[in-house]
Amino acid sequence: MPRIHVGDRVLEVPEGTSLLAAFQGNGVPVATSCGGVATCGLCRVTVVQGRENLTGLVDGELTHLGSIAKVVGLRLACQAKLTGAGDVKVDVPPLEDVAARKARKAERLRAQRPGSGGSSGGGVGSGRR
Ligand code: FES
Repeated sequence: MPRIHVGDRVLEVPEGTSLLAAFQGNGVPVATSCGGVATCGLCRVTVVQGRENLTGLVDGELTHLGSIAKVVGLRLACQAKLTGAGDVKVDVPPLEDVAARKARKAERLRAQRPGSGGSSGGGVGSGRR
């Protein structure tokens, strides 16, 4: 049975199990708001070892993670499934990091709105000409 090394824990789960299902079934906190259908992008993890023991990247992952995912081992935990060939080692970001990332993104989007006074190059009412 394949094993997932996460933090100081080792999870044994059946082949074909997604990382998200393995984490949720074993009390490892992982952010999610879409329930595992690759739309929220919150379940991002880093596969430190054993990438070859997971199913390949799917289009939905590349949308959220960008092409850098292949280089640094980023995956959406809901889409990466154990192939059964061996173990994987995964870093899961603390939930606070995910909340902070979302807050930074929301702030960046607010600053880009026209008239917000942000750095978008001057929208209506920005006083710039
Ligand atoms: S749980 Fe939403 S993208 Fe993976």
